[in-house]
Amino acid sequence: MSPKREIAFTLNGVPTRASVSPELSALALIREVLGLTGTKLGCGEGECGACTILVDGRSVNSCLMFALDCEGRSLVTIEGLAADPLGARIEQAFVEAGAVQCGFCTPGMVVQAHNLLTAHPHPTREQIRRGIEGNLCRCTGYFKIVEAIERAAGAQE
Ligand code: FES
Ligand code: FES
Repeated sequence: MSPKREIAFTLNGVPTRASVSPELSALALIREVLGLTGTKLGCGEGECGACTILVDGRSVNSCLMFALDCEGRSLVTIEGLAADPLGARIEQAFVEAGAVQCGFCTPGMVVQAHNLLTAHPHPTREQIRRGIEGNLCRCTGYFKIVEAIERAAGAQE
């Protein structure tokens, strides 16, 4: 096995260091090394969006990112979004719209919605659909999820 390397980054606003092996994913770093299990492992192949986090403010599938590439970056997970006004608004809207069934996709959806609403504060329904098209909900609760994001944006139609 290749030797580990020490990396430094910011996680949910907190300066963080970790010793990581080259093959470790950012998702495994977050869940297994740092113990933040809100970010989910679904497909592990970039297909489902369950592992979505923000890296320097943009959404990323953390299962496809190497932990080593977190060096110097600012990472925000679902745990960190509750302290963010937009993140808290989105979470509240998911609850109010009844957009959570089993909840497995929810952290990734909320992070992706944050990414979308940061770029487009008042998105159309079509922009919302496109914005979350990389996130799969196995409970197929898409209608309520779109409604929740509209609610968070204050963009009721
Ligand atoms: S677990 Fe990363 S995209 Fe599915
Ligand atoms: S709520 Fe169950 S996977 Fe989306």
